[in-house]
Amino acid sequence: MKYVIGIDLGTSGTKTVLFDELGKTIASSTVEYPMYQPQNGWAEQDPEDWWNAAVKTLKAVVDNSGVDSSEIVGIGISGQMHGLVMLDEENKVIRNSIIWCDQRTAAECEDIERIIGRERLIEITANPALTGFTASKIMWVKKNEPENYAKCRHILLPKDYVRFMLTGEYATEVSDASGMQLLDIKNRCWSDEVLEKLSIDKSMLGKVYESPEITGYITDDVAKITGLKAGTPVVGGAGDNAAAAVGTGTVNDGEAFTTIGTSGVVYAHTKNMAIDKKGRVHTFCCAVPGEWHVMGVTQGAGLSLKWFKEEFCCDIIEKAKAENENPYKLMDDMAEKSGISARKLLFMPYLMGERTPHLDPKARGAFIGLSAIHNRYDMIRAVMEGVTYSLKDCLSVLEEMGVNPEKMLACGGGGTSPLWRQMLADVYGMSVSTVDSKEGPALGVAILAMVGAGIYPSVKMACEKVIRVNSTCESNSQNTVKYNKVYSVYKNLYKHLKEDFAEISALEE
Ligand code: XUL
Repeated sequence: MKYVIGIDLGTSGTKTVLFDELGKTIASSTVEYPMYQPQNGWAEQDPEDWWNAAVKTLKAVVDNSGVDSSEIVGIGISGQMHGLVMLDEENKVIRNSIIWCDQRTAAECEDIERIIGRERLIEITANPALTGFTASKIMWVKKNEPENYAKCRHILLPKDYVRFMLTGEYATEVSDASGMQLLDIKNRCWSDEVLEKLSIDKSMLGKVYESPEITGYITDDVAKITGLKAGTPVVGGAGDNAAAAVGTGTVNDGEAFTTIGTSGVVYAHTKNMAIDKKGRVHTFCCAVPGEWHVMGVTQGAGLSLKWFKEEFCCDIIEKAKAENENPYKLMDDMAEKSGISARKLLFMPYLMGERTPHLDPKARGAFIGLSAIHNRYDMIRAVMEGVTYSLKDCLSVLEEMGVNPEKMLACGGGGTSPLWRQMLADVYGMSVSTVDSKEGPALGVAILAMVGAGIYPSVKMACEKVIRVNSTCESNSQNTVKYNKVYSVYKNLYKHLKEDFAEISALEE
């Protein structure tokens, strides 16, 4: 039996999983780290935290698995996309990483569209300038911290920084590089035109690979601190969504998944590149060589429920601890007691601005329809429903583009909640399944490592061998009718509040 490792560098923590060649989990380890919000709407993390978490979790899975490190034939890395890591000439991190959900770069996005032209930018990078993406973060540092930019010699994405530390290689792969807004998405290479117009030196960027290709090998130093064998290959891997696609077997046309993690994503595979001219969803290269995917993003999905839990449910957290229960399970039970429409309470999940469909970093979260009758049960339910409506917005845009998913999977932390899955099925009006393995992105990049190591000849064939579809949750048509009524109210709320959100954003604290 051969073994592979998948590292998933998430926003709340890094999870590393050792699998056998059939995708069975042998050992798993997670280390969490903080996200810093130095100002309203800003979000940063320390790349040192990511590296320490990678080392600790790699060591733990190697030590605890009982597997000889010579039998580990490949490693794949997945990660939160878009974050900016800058290294100086000694490969030292220059500043904290400005990560995907940071919203400080609205002015830089305007600059980018002015310099390149919005249409031309969408033609090349398949997306309008977005605050989440790396290009605007680079432009922000250039403008606001010129001393830091002057020191910069290498620009890497979060998972590619970990790759550099593991292998010494400056490299990336097409799926994650798609989210930098510097890649020519059709031709799967850096865009000289975009780089020149934004005056970003191409030599600062890593070499671009396809996701299952080998990008480097574990160094002697890393072998010493992790227990891995020096020379173990590290494949390209993928951005977290493209990785989750492989980890759920979403690798053919007609297949889609919804993930409820910190952010929420509705992702559909497409063999032919499809672009939304309004730029409301992203078109990125996927981890299947030569193919693409489209996805809509809800910025604050699991993040919204986590926020509510941490700010308003300390007692539930304590109770869960005492009962050795997951606090989210207790919150699900509370939401069940409310009911569809949360007794006429709606929640707008724009706690970190919003991407699909509004593309508005100034959008704010809101409870709408509060009455003295409402309690926490309703508020939890409203948060879950609001996130689900926002995901329905994403699905609607994909359908408008002619990308019509026939099969929908649910994954991510929220996807493990039967209540949330039923809500998705009812609000989408289609059945929603899960897959056997809960390891999503970590399994996805482990599968890429299996392909890179030659265990399977292609990503699609590896998925056929490894992925098992599990339970299916059918939609309930009566519930769909009820949810639809609330959804049509929800859809109007943003239109009514857009200007107010902008004014709130401009207020002084
Ligand atoms: C995708 C995106 C998020 C992050 C964090 O565009 O921003 O999914 O990758 O998970």
